[in-house]
Formats: sequence, structure tokens, C-alpha cells
Amino acid sequence: MRGGQSLDKEAVSGPGGSSAEHEPTCLEERPKVTGPPAASPQLSSDGLRHAQVSLCQTRTQSPVCSPGDANWTAISSPDPMALTTAGTQPSLGEVAGIPLPATTVDNWHQIQGFEAQPDDLLICTYPKSGTTWIQEIVDLIEHSGDVDKCQRAAIQHRHPFLEWARPPQPSGVEKARAMPRPRVLRTHLPAQLLPPSFWESNCKFLYVARNAKDCLVSYYHFQRMNRTLPDPGTWDQYFETFISGKVAWGSWFEHVRGWWELRDNVQMLFLFYEDIKRDPKQEIQKVMKFMEKNLDGAVLDTIVQETTFEKMKANPMTNRSTAPKTILDQSISPFMRKGIVGDWKNHFTVAQNERFDEIYRQKMKGTSINFCTEL
Ligand code: A3P
Repeated sequence: MRGGQSLDKEAVSGPGGSSAEHEPTCLEERPKVTGPPAASPQLSSDGLRHAQVSLCQTRTQSPVCSPGDANWTAISSPDPMALTTAGTQPSLGEVAGIPLPATTVDNWHQIQGFEAQPDDLLICTYPKSGTTWIQEIVDLIEHSGDVDKCQRAAIQHRHPFLEWARPPQPSGVEKARAMPRPRVLRTHLPAQLLPPSFWESNCKFLYVARNAKDCLVSYYHFQRMNRTLPDPGTWDQYFETFISGKVAWGSWFEHVRGWWELRDNVQMLFLFYEDIKRDPKQEIQKVMKFMEKNLDGAVLDTIVQETTFEKMKANPMTNRSTAPKTILDQSISPFMRKGIVGDWKNHFTVAQNERFDEIYRQKMKGTSINFCTEL
């Protein structure tokens, strides 16, 4: 379904790995910076280390918490994003031109100094690409299909979110450091902003991409209900914000392209949301193999059943129902919203679709990824 000869190809390589999930971040030091292996966009070490905070977008109200759950107190931050500095409005800062939650920017030095281990497994996604879904799949595989073990905590607490920072709560880096190995971690960072130790340690990367149009729609509704993110404005306004890459974690095009181009140079399994939807069993088997787990057919069936949209929507440990309404107002839009392929057709005008396709062609030129036109 996604064009290109290597679409279905699971870019797997080498040994070692485990996995993880999301949360806060902090600071520490670590001077050396090695860019990602070949193919991906490179940043100067200066760019990486001297982040600047600049406010890009704000929400009119003043949220007082953060992402996905009840234990958060500080100011904003959504499951994937967190913004704002001082109890005011959620805002975005910037690192090397990439919009990021302001608190993440504040803690950039620590994030860049994170010490990855060779047996880390890092789940990498652009926001709204099915992160929660793949986390639950990975967790069930890691625990050999034991559903009770996967009820031990809300999904956002099971795998440290590398760039999460929300003082005084422990940051994602701190949580990852405290976690026993092998670790499963997660990030939304574009490849060029990843802490260099991940490349140096030859970790495993599990990337999930979702078609850009559905990501846009999902992100729009997420920002409507997430009080810790900038207000998305109208649909038409948000369309412009998204295509210009001014949303948290930056441009979908650059993110997907950057990780895609690295897939053969590192230990990476590159999956597509649409494939998991179409043939979950086949895609989950790829993840099992990547994680070097041999599980029998009955366990595989359990994992398929437990990770359907309907099951996860009803599961309090995956549906973000533990998050207070002041953070995620699910009366506006549920976190587990539709979980379908092609919802963009209910949102895009004909003109927006034509414009988007043109931008897609330009930005993704030369890659073998081509999901947009096929949905
Ligand atoms: P929609 O808003 O289109 O419904 P993330 O976890 O990266 O924030 O992504 C959230 C998106 O993944 C939401 O998309 C959500 O409904 C969808 N999703 C979560 N679990 C899913 C599942 N089991 N099957 C299909 N889609 C799922």
C-alpha cells in the first residue's frame, strides 16, 4: 500500500535491543555529539547544544497540568507534547529550528546527554501516528502476552518518554535511568535531534509512520482537547500550521523522511500504521522477530485481540481516561478517537487535498514512501 519497493520491507538489522514508552525529561551533560549514521539530516553540535526558546504558539487559557494523566501537576504537556514555561499558556520553543515543548527545550542539555545502552529499544514516531498502539503491542510481546502485567500502569508510564520534562516531576531521562535493563523507551524526536549515544550504542529503533493526512487530522483534534498544547485554531488555520511544520516536533515530512532514510544504516524496524490496521498479525509478528521473542500462535492471537482499537479504547490503561479533564478534555474529542485509515477525507476540501498532494510530492521527492496518494 505505500508505494516504493521497500515499503513492506522491514528494515531490520543487527542484534540487540529492547523497548520503552513515554514521560518527562531533564538535564545533564555530555559534550560529544555524533550525528546519525549517514543518510539523515545532520545538525551541528552547536545547534544541538545551544537550544533557544522562542514562543511559537499559545493557547488562550492557562492550563495547569500536563499530558496524559492524573499525577501531573506542572503546566502543560500532552501525551506527546508538553509546552509552556511558567504556569501561563502552553507554548513551544525551538531546537535547531524544530518546534518543541518549551520545557523540553529548557532541558535540552540533559536530553542530549542521555546515555543509551546497547540493549535499549526506542519506539520512534511522529505525534499521532499510533504510538500508544505500538507501545501496547511491544509491552504485550515483552510480557509474552500476559495481559495482567500490562495493566500494571497507564501506558504513558510504562515506557519513559525521552524528551519529557516537567519539573519537579522526574524527567523522561531520569525515569529511563532508573529503569532496569533492557529498556523500552519512546520519543517523537526527529532523527537529527536524537541524543548521539543512541547511534553510538547501536540501539534498536522501532519506527511507526502514519500517512500525513490522517496525522494532520488526528493532531488537530488532539490539540483541540489537549489543554497543554497551543490551541489549533480553526481547521483552515491548523492546516496551514501543519503543512508549514510549525507544530510540536516539527514537519511530518522531514520527520518521516529523516527516519526512513536511516532505516538501512541502523537496527530499525520501520512499520506503517496502515499496515498494522490491515494485517495486525503479520505486523505484530515482525515486531516479535525484531524483539527476538518466540511466542506461540495462541499468544500472538491474544496480542492481536488485545490491541484492537475497540479493546484499547475500552481499556483504562490505554485510553488516557486517567488524565484529568483539565489536561485532556475527552468531552471535546476522545484520545482514542476513530482509529481508522482515511479520516482525512471527512476533513480536507478538494483544494486542500490538491495542495497537500503537491507539497507531499515536493517534500518527499526521491523517497520510496508514497502513502498519501494511495489512501
Ligand atoms: P485518531 O485520532 O485518528 O483516532 P498516538 O498514540 O501517537 O497519539 O496516536 C493516536 C492515534 O492512534 C489516534 O488516531 C488513535 O485513535 C489511534 N489509535 C490508538 N490505538 C489504536 C488502535 N489500537 N488501533 C488503531 N488506531 C489506534
